[in-house]
Amino acid sequence: MKTRESYDGAIERTLFTAKEIDAAVQRLANQIAEDHCRQPLTLVGVLKGALYVVTDLARALAAIPDGPSEIIVDYICVSSYGNSARSSGEVRMLKDVSEPITGRNVVIVEDIVDNGLTLQYLRSLFEERRPASLRACVLFDKPYHRRVEVPVDYVGLQSPDQFVVGYGLDYQELFRNLPYLAQLRPAAFKEG
Ligand code: IMP
Repeated sequence: MKTRESYDGAIERTLFTAKEIDAAVQRLANQIAEDHCRQPLTLVGVLKGALYVVTDLARALAAIPDGPSEIIVDYICVSSYGNSARSSGEVRMLKDVSEPITGRNVVIVEDIVDNGLTLQYLRSLFEERRPASLRACVLFDKPYHRRVEVPVDYVGLQSPDQFVVGYGLDYQELFRNLPYLAQLRPAAFKEG
């Protein structure tokens, strides 16, 4: 098990502070609230990476007057990266949503969009279920290596063209719990 010291030693630099991330989540909540004013909404967090952003977003939305009339928070668990820092390009569903989305206004909430395959997979999966509306929200956009053009309706922050960790994003299941977004030292990858 990694200690706190080994976490600190693995971080090259902070890319976005917890405060900057909070402000971005608030901006996203305001935009989503405007588009779903007094309407029911289902937020689908894409696990595990969207763990924090979907809960913080749901709480921020609750505090906005004239926001959605009701919010269901649901989760879907997909895997695309396995245990490495490079995408396999293959998306697998590990757990489906637990509530039906037919006829609902749905916002898919992702931590980061990189090659776009995960979001494309989710969009076409959900479209088949005939939601009333379907939008996508990503906290960090990494647009440099898209393999597919996929619409993203709400973007929080622009990620640099690097592998990033924290605020839900992991490297080999570690670093998700950092409250900020960080770049890892190259040595951290070699150590595994
Ligand atoms: P995509 O299918 O390449 O767009 O990737 C989407 C998923 O890959 C995200 O939900 C993340 O789980 C993972 N991912 C992409 N880039 C990073 C990164 O820089 N750090 C950690 N996970 C990443």
